[in-house]
Amino acid sequence: MDISTKLLGTSEEELRYAAGLLARGEIVGMPTETVYGLAADAENPRAVEKIFAAKGRPQDNPLIVHIADIERLEEYAHSIPVIAYRLAEKFWPGPLTMVLPKKEIIPDVTSAGLNTVGIRMPCHEAARSLIRLSGKALAAPSANISGSPSPTEAAHVMADMRGRIPAVVDGGSCPVGVESTVISFEGDAVRILRPGFVSAEELSEWAEVICDRHITEAAAEGEKVLSPGMKYKHYSPKANVTIVDGSEEQYLEFVSRHGGNGVCAMIFGSEADKCMIPYIAYGDTSEEQAANLFAVLRKLDGIGAEQVYARMPSPQGVGLAVYNRLLRAAGFEVVRL
Ligand code: TXA
Ligand code: MG
Repeated sequence: MDISTKLLGTSEEELRYAAGLLARGEIVGMPTETVYGLAADAENPRAVEKIFAAKGRPQDNPLIVHIADIERLEEYAHSIPVIAYRLAEKFWPGPLTMVLPKKEIIPDVTSAGLNTVGIRMPCHEAARSLIRLSGKALAAPSANISGSPSPTEAAHVMADMRGRIPAVVDGGSCPVGVESTVISFEGDAVRILRPGFVSAEELSEWAEVICDRHITEAAAEGEKVLSPGMKYKHYSPKANVTIVDGSEEQYLEFVSRHGGNGVCAMIFGSEADKCMIPYIAYGDTSEEQAANLFAVLRKLDGIGAEQVYARMPSPQGVGLAVYNRLLRAAGFEVVRL
């Protein structure tokens, strides 16, 4: 049966209420600087199972564990390389998740049976307060139904989770807009499993960086991947999305030739005056594009778009995260002009 879902603010009283739910093994929508998460006590297998059920998440896709204090890292992970401490010092609190060998205390359901765990320390104030008030480390995937775009506003969480969870904390729009950078360690090198706001360029100031091939290439059916999330179709609006790679002129010419019923252009913004078909803009800079991407993908459903031609983002800096999410929304369909 549906349960009623409370929309909470970020006052101390409301956060205490949410923390009480978490301490009792319930799950709660939580704002972070990247996207909204669906949080549960990471050490409580029955609570974590509720996350998988609410999202319809595949059982083999592990959850990220969120902490508010760096001292807690060693409670959950062991054999932590020196470079991980350096990166934590530089990028935490913030949108960086480190995959490390897990300790027993993390139940199998949280790590989806892997012997590693992804840990991150978010910098969103409400997330940090909620973690501290609950006294727990919080397992939290993005708070969307599996496969749909990640939520960057409380209203998106409500749209997907109303009736499935007891509460959502409304902390406003998520400023980063794409999920955290996920890395693993290989000797002294760092492998990027999922690009995010902490970019390959920034990380390479601290360590040798390997960008996993599956950031920009689809995994073949049954192919082994280093992060289970790489296997799944993600971020998909109902419309068919196609990325169009070319100059502004080539792109505008392409969409004017392919316009028609249900066709929408997904443009940067600055070319709006010159776009001859219905469009939606997702931003001129990579930072703007990251912040707007998921809300725009959700909006496309709202306007009933059937075919979307998205202008190819620059894959530099946080742009690589935008490109990666858009590729997945497009099922890796790219037209090169
Ligand atoms: O920004 C974020 O990371 C957001 C907020 C809520 O913190 N969380 C998030 O969680 O995006 P989720 O579950 O939607 O994505 C986690 C990704 C998945 O692709 C998963 O496969 C990967 O991280 N992952 C988690 N633990 C892992 C592990 N031990 N080894 C490899 N990949 C892992
Ligand atoms: Mg997700």
